[in-house]
Amino acid sequence: MIHIDRYEKIWIGFSIAMLAGLLIAVTVMAFGYGIQLPVEFGRVDPKTVATPGVSPFGEPGLRELAPGKYDAYVLAQAWRFTPNEIRLKVGDTVTFYFTSTDVQHGVKITGTNINMMILPGQVSRLTHKFENAGEHVVICHEYCGAGHHTMFAKIIVEP
Ligand code: CUA
Repeated sequence: MIHIDRYEKIWIGFSIAMLAGLLIAVTVMAFGYGIQLPVEFGRVDPKTVATPGVSPFGEPGLRELAPGKYDAYVLAQAWRFTPNEIRLKVGDTVTFYFTSTDVQHGVKITGTNINMMILPGQVSRLTHKFENAGEHVVICHEYCGAGHHTMFAKIIVEP
């Protein structure tokens, strides 16, 4: 048996406890708070994706799948989101599909856990259920040029 100094043992114990603590924190966040990993959902041609008829992004906006269940197709371009405003009712669940026609953008929807990159040629997808009435700001959080700070849209959730 190797001799390990008492303080060394305490530090080893502390390091293991810290790792275990972080693992528990990540697990609780993932399952308890519904953290979703934005994975690559699909590929599109950024040159034609905005053409009507070629892809659902040709006519961006909401599609009702069932009462209270929607798909939202949102185009990101320098420097705007299309559509610029989405109106929902409390309790609606929306699966957002984002893509870019030009450069790399980002999206954060305030008050939700939607936060992902938007890359030309790829589709990013995340789902959120809107439980409360109010306004959410859709912000581009990836520097995309001179007008980056003006790139935002709104989601209005009505009671
Ligand atoms: Cu788009 Cu910053």
